[in-house]
Amino acid sequence: MKTSKITVLTFLLMGTFFITSCTKEKKKEKENFINENVEFASAQTKLMLANVGEPTGKNYPRTANENGTLRVTDMYDWTPGFFPGSLWYLYELTGDTTWRYNAEKWTHSLEPLKTYTGNHDLGFMMYCSYGNAERLASKPEYKDILIESARSLSTRYDDKVQSIKSWNGGKAWGDTTKWTFPVIIDNMMNLELLFNASKISGDKQFYDIAVKHANTTIKNHFREDFSSYHVVDYDTITGDVRFKGTAQGFSDNSTWARGQAWAIYGFTMVYRETKDSTYLNTAKQLADYFIKNLPADFIPLWDFNVAQTGYTPQGKSYAVEFQEKLKDASAAAIVCSALFELGEFTQNKSYTEMAIKMLHSLASPNYRATLGTNANFIIMHCVGSIPHKSEINVPLCYADYYFLEALVRYKNLK
Ligand code: GLY
Repeated sequence: MKTSKITVLTFLLMGTFFITSCTKEKKKEKENFINENVEFASAQTKLMLANVGEPTGKNYPRTANENGTLRVTDMYDWTPGFFPGSLWYLYELTGDTTWRYNAEKWTHSLEPLKTYTGNHDLGFMMYCSYGNAERLASKPEYKDILIESARSLSTRYDDKVQSIKSWNGGKAWGDTTKWTFPVIIDNMMNLELLFNASKISGDKQFYDIAVKHANTTIKNHFREDFSSYHVVDYDTITGDVRFKGTAQGFSDNSTWARGQAWAIYGFTMVYRETKDSTYLNTAKQLADYFIKNLPADFIPLWDFNVAQTGYTPQGKSYAVEFQEKLKDASAAAIVCSALFELGEFTQNKSYTEMAIKMLHSLASPNYRATLGTNANFIIMHCVGSIPHKSEINVPLCYADYYFLEALVRYKNLK
């Protein structure tokens, strides 16, 4: 009797010891992984800063040219917020105030955009920059700038359509359909600025616009299997849908991977801000579609239906002639970051585990550059827009931004 009790106790102690040392080892592994990636990202971004110089309003890092040199944009493109945002994440990951100094400088250079109403991208432009600035190093003027930016974005909202207009016009690739009120799935991302501005100003209007836009998106942007259309065009007199199709995907009936990524991230964020389970369920179904269609290395093709039977690009789209099955690491980085939140909100470990696998794949030599290459961006092998014959198999500043955000979320994971 006594001997068997001792045996059980010994087994229990050994078991506990085994579990504790496994947990410690896993924790160490995670720490090493994060530290190594932060070290690399810091070194690579220092080279980027040295190369790009001081912010001029015209030199926001975007991608690499064909000859490997850095390509920049002015502040009125959709991506200037990502570089300052990446600098903020490096500050958050390291605590090093040099990153904060640079992040502030690059963020402040975007202030003139607070009154910009030329497109729907103000959320990307101002929230990735000033939103992070307010979160990590709050100043009263940041709040004013975020509120004014939200006001500018809200001018694009139409109550008949119950959506924010994305672009001011455009045509479908077939050249016949001219759009009047195009809304693209990417627009979900800009709602974060509105939710935040509503909180800091107490103005519920911003919140209401964001919720109405999200509801209209649920109604019209998804197919039964929760794959997404990139573009939905509306009639502003009746509010009816005029067209569903694509601008950046393979074909009108296909699913553009980054569009699906914006939708997953967007609806997870709308759930965070509203706590309405409709949005969480939507995010789950969108993520399930994305995950189900991933290849073995967890990095999606740039469009899930490239060169498949039943999917035909139209007219002037470069996808008519270019049908290589390229991957898009930027879509993976966006979803990777979103899945850390989705895992937390659903308490479903499989989303978190997928996020960790995607992060490891992105950080592998297959997708992470080596020091001083890739025009000093971190992530390789992204696709901007094949239909427009633009940014094919290149680095993109937003892939780096969401990769760093995913590292922050992984680090904070309990
Ligand atoms: N928002 C534009 C893009 O994802 O390419």
